[in-house]
Amino acid sequence: MTSPLRLGIAGLGTVGVGVVRIVQKNAELLAARAGRPIEIVAVSARARDKDRGVDLSAYAWEDDPVTLARRDDIDVFIEVMGGHEGPAKDATEAAIASGKDVVSANKALLAIHGQALAEAAEDKGAVIRFEAAVAGGIPVVKALTEGLAANEITRVMGVMNGSCNYILTRMENAGLTYQQVFDEANALGYLEADPELDVGGIDAGHKLALLSAIAFGTQVDFGAVELEGIGSVTIEDIRQAADMGFKIKLLGVAQMTGRGLEQRMSPCLVPDTSPLGQLQGGTNMVVIEGDAVTQIVLRGPGAGEGPTASAVMGDVMDIARGLRVSTFGQPARKLRKARAARAAIPAPYYLRMHLIDKPGALAKVAHALGEAGISIDRMRQYDHSATEAPVLIVTHKTTRTALDEAIASFAATGVVAGEPVAIRIEAV
Ligand code: NAP
Ligand code: HSE
Repeated sequence: MTSPLRLGIAGLGTVGVGVVRIVQKNAELLAARAGRPIEIVAVSARARDKDRGVDLSAYAWEDDPVTLARRDDIDVFIEVMGGHEGPAKDATEAAIASGKDVVSANKALLAIHGQALAEAAEDKGAVIRFEAAVAGGIPVVKALTEGLAANEITRVMGVMNGSCNYILTRMENAGLTYQQVFDEANALGYLEADPELDVGGIDAGHKLALLSAIAFGTQVDFGAVELEGIGSVTIEDIRQAADMGFKIKLLGVAQMTGRGLEQRMSPCLVPDTSPLGQLQGGTNMVVIEGDAVTQIVLRGPGAGEGPTASAVMGDVMDIARGLRVSTFGQPARKLRKARAARAAIPAPYYLRMHLIDKPGALAKVAHALGEAGISIDRMRQYDHSATEAPVLIVTHKTTRTALDEAIASFAATGVVAGEPVAIRIEAV
């Protein structure tokens, strides 16, 4: 039999333990498919004595993940600790420096340091694979780098944070406020230790930046992702959007435009009949559009022990079989620095505001929109009170800049109460 592929696993939490379970449970199947055994040699975590529900007695223990990364008896370093600095970065760099291949689930590390790590890996003839870092169990990195490698990719978009999709769908289905569902999700342990990573769109932004680099052959640039979280989405907007045939999703969109690379992660309205509109709970969905393939939709679990470990092991299997693909689908030094598009391409917008109910109020708002060059597609009033009339407007395509200009000019009309809400409507 050919030599085994020897693994060192740094991190024995949700994902690390999932990887151990797959290697132990499916050992024969892995060996048959890879043509060689896959063996865990050494592991590392913080607390050595913690009961993790798996038998680790056959593996060497390292307190320091950097020492693990440098061991001569491992071929692949699996980084499933998390964090974009500190031990995760140090150990990944150490593994690469000693010529090891790396499999990582760490989107934060790769979104921020991916270019430097990819260059270092190539200099050493090592590979870095990161399927588990994007959309959990969905093999989207593989789809983009391999299956769709012959396409000019025109757009990548999707729902890439299960916690946010859980919050938004639960708000809608149970009629609860954002704060109520946030507290519930936090108590259930659905949110990251720092929940802002989820609800602020940061985690999903990391994932989008990684897909964008592969899709457009550009250096990963998380700093250029326009980020807006879901904290300001209200149950009222969810209901009004639903009434007009839309759902609100934290949607990531990456596309190359004549004005540069557009990357944004923000709440958007999508048609409720679309696959994205119908996505419920913690599930993820990624839509990829290419010149030859047209459109594909990938849907599946975006997190959790089994799905994420499945993705880690998919990468391990590729390495065991001898498949060596560049980190972002092409040699790291050939990746271009993308010019970031300063504004998103025009789209229709949903606009909700409270008008003071007096003659001519609606006309003043319509005039302000007209002055900013914005045309109205649909408009309606709802839940009229004695003094205020909530109004919903769907605009024709416009830019966010024009819309912000119009909203700023509402103050002078004296008829708009409070802050209007504006949400982009994405064609999906
Ligand atoms: P987790 O449950 O919090 O586990 C983290 C593990 O790393 C723990 O075993 C911890 O040790 C260990 N660790 C932390 N700091 C360490 C250090 N300085 N030295 C050695 N070990 C250290 O995290 P997770 O959910 O498995 O996530 C791991 C990675 O996968 C993260 O990058 C995350 O973003 C990514 N990911 C997770 C999911 C998911 O569904 N959970 C999905 C996709 C991607 P102790 O156990 O001893 O504390
Ligand atoms: N916090 C992430 C999510 C975990 O909710 O999707 C998987 O990356």
